[in-house]
Amino acid sequence: MNERTKILHHGDTPEKYFGAVNPPVVHASLFGYRTVEEFRAVNRDPFHQPVYHREYNPTVGVLEEKIAMLEHAEAGIAFSSGMGAITAPLLALLSHGDHLLVIDSVYGPTRQFCNDTLTRMGIQVEYFSAAESANLAPRLKDNTRLIYLESPGSLTFEIQDIEAVTRLARARGIYTIIDNSWATPLYQKPLDMGVDIVVHSGTKYIAGHSDLTLGLLACSEALFKKIKPTAVLLGAVLSPDDAYLALRGLRTLPLRMAQHQESALKIARWLASRPEVREVLHPGLPTFPGYELAKRQMTGYSSLFSFRLQPGTAEARRAFVDTLELFLIGYSWGGYESLMLPLDRAFAGEPDWRARRGLDDDLFRTSIGLEDPDDLIADLERGLAAWRAAMD
Ligand SMILES: Cc1ncc(COP(=O)(O)O)c(C=O)c1O
Repeated sequence: MNERTKILHHGDTPEKYFGAVNPPVVHASLFGYRTVEEFRAVNRDPFHQPVYHREYNPTVGVLEEKIAMLEHAEAGIAFSSGMGAITAPLLALLSHGDHLLVIDSVYGPTRQFCNDTLTRMGIQVEYFSAAESANLAPRLKDNTRLIYLESPGSLTFEIQDIEAVTRLARARGIYTIIDNSWATPLYQKPLDMGVDIVVHSGTKYIAGHSDLTLGLLACSEALFKKIKPTAVLLGAVLSPDDAYLALRGLRTLPLRMAQHQESALKIARWLASRPEVREVLHPGLPTFPGYELAKRQMTGYSSLFSFRLQPGTAEARRAFVDTLELFLIGYSWGGYESLMLPLDRAFAGEPDWRARRGLDDDLFRTSIGLEDPDDLIADLERGLAAWRAAMD
């Protein structure tokens, strides 16, 4: 059965709920039983049976089944944010004295968690570049326990060689985690490439409507047994209401992603043709440094990309963004609405790190929403005219 069909119906059991086609939103912190026998029976597997919401909830459970199906995994765990999904496996799998390798272009707060919390716990954290991912052997140590990937990155979209990393990691018993938020489970299947654990900020495309924060994790049954108890103790659990919204978002994910992809490629190509634009960083453009690898690892592209204007003044850059009517300025991405984020020096990051990422004042990141792409192009045209006027 095609994934587009499965995403609609997988895990639905209308016969259990009066024929209701959507799973009900089960509002219950606890689940009560009449007999000791029943109570003991559900307590034998509290991570899959209704006992207490922090461990299992039927609405959240349907979402967990769906993410496992989409990621070709045996098990899924939902969290109240992407950071919940990222921090739980790191805390569950790493111990004092372990060495952790992290992609240098990793999402800022993930980096902060590694540098602050994990370092304080006595875990040795080191970063590697996307180029090094083709052969990480020289960076491995006897105590390397885990390698953390995020491909593509979310500012300048560095593509890592996933299979080269997992081949090495598997041979040495090292765990691998990947943040798959950019490509979504539709366009990249990391577990098929040997990755152990996939995490998502479901806040982005999966929820898709900028109305909740959501984290999702998918892995084997054996890893679920290692990670789930820590997840339950950390307590970043998803509410049944937000699980419902996420399930609703997932039903239209294939349709939305097809439109996001088409619109973003059209706008990226249009921007690349403009004299005011020096460079467009979109993994689906042949001019992008990681284009060939991206094509091998992914079956599609989402709609978050960056572009660099010609060297300009602060006034011109501000005129460009302030003139836009359809693009709000904001950090998140993957929703129905278009966004424009200036990556100038006011944006976080140590100078060294900014230089390694190629972040300068003329760089902007855009999330292309579901508006008509020609309306977005007309808006950008007005913005570029304002940039030109301010440069004169
Ligand atoms: C690539 C990436 N991973 C993880 C996260 C964290 O997700 P959340 O904000 O849902 O905690 C984000 C959020 O912006 C992100 O961009």
